[in-house]
Amino acid sequence: MLQIEHLSKSYGKFRAVNDLSLHVPKGDLFGFVGPNGAGKTTTIRMVCGLMLPNAGSITINGVNALSHQREIKKQIGYVPDFFGVYDNLKVKEYMDFYGSMYRMNSKEIERISDDLLELVNLSDKKEVFVDTLSRGMKQRLCVARALIHNPALLVLDEPNSGLDPRARVEMKELLLNLKSMGKTIVISSHILSELSEMCSSIGIMDHGNLVAAGRIEDVMESVFGSNQLIISLEEGRETAVRIAREHAGVRIDSVGEHELKLSHTMTQKQIAKMIGTMIANDVVVTGFHKQEGDLETLFMRVTGENAGQEGEKENVAESYR
Ligand SMILES: Nc1ncnc2c1ncn2[C@@H]1O[C@H](COP(=O)(O)OP(=O)(O)O)[C@@H](O)[C@H]1O
Ligand SMILES: [Mg+2]
Repeated sequence: MLQIEHLSKSYGKFRAVNDLSLHVPKGDLFGFVGPNGAGKTTTIRMVCGLMLPNAGSITINGVNALSHQREIKKQIGYVPDFFGVYDNLKVKEYMDFYGSMYRMNSKEIERISDDLLELVNLSDKKEVFVDTLSRGMKQRLCVARALIHNPALLVLDEPNSGLDPRARVEMKELLLNLKSMGKTIVISSHILSELSEMCSSIGIMDHGNLVAAGRIEDVMESVFGSNQLIISLEEGRETAVRIAREHAGVRIDSVGEHELKLSHTMTQKQIAKMIGTMIANDVVVTGFHKQEGDLETLFMRVTGENAGQEGEKENVAESYR
């Protein structure tokens, strides 16, 4: 669906995106993650045809996005990281405005915008001024607007920034809903755990470089060598240990009174099957989860964010000398 090859972009002498190659398959909900300044927005703006790269290629649905900008814009819905100011514009007028930019007739706009406002749960806000909406509502309205021309690819730049937890959950549900409708979605964030809840694959960017990409389990495995899993149980500990040992790619790290810690290279499906076997063999499993902090550790390891922060501190110190 989206194929990026050797993409580079510099601002003057500063290289914001460096030789980035990435493939997002059709129907994927792909998470693009990296600390502030990593180059996410720059990459997204190039994908959406708002900025030209210095080198590299972008292909969307087999079409060269750089030489066929007009055609490509019909295929992309873009939700920018900054929501503009819309004085005296009502939600319905806002949708009309964007619909008319795609040369849709007013009947068509009305029908589609009704459907979209329903989808993003804003049907009852049609006559409300855009500027008075909550941040979460504005973000959802922005998604509705980005979908007005029925694009195959939806690209969202940090849609969760500034949202409260409830609004984040609503955004997540909306994106999962769109995915189930067959949209291909790329979403960026500087918080990995936020994306890992909904994305099956991710790309981690740092200082302009794509440092890791692929399915979350695979990225974890390539960084840690394995994943950690904690199984909580009440009864049947010996049986649980035996069953875990029978699985390829499992190492038992520790056996506690009510807890089994494993390192593994299994897929989510295989984990679910293994737990199922335990339960079928009378192990009383009360819960299981990935080791806490895993994602943060992963993020720190691949981005070397600590190093960056120290560097910044040094610069600050320098400027005070
Ligand atoms: N218009 C610009 N001119 C100069 N430098 C820029 C410009 N836009 C972004 N940058 C720099 O490029 C780097 C990447 O920025 P950006 O793509 O916005 O990263 P992210 O979205 O991951 O936070 C940052 O160091 C930023 O300061
Ligand atoms: Mg950004």
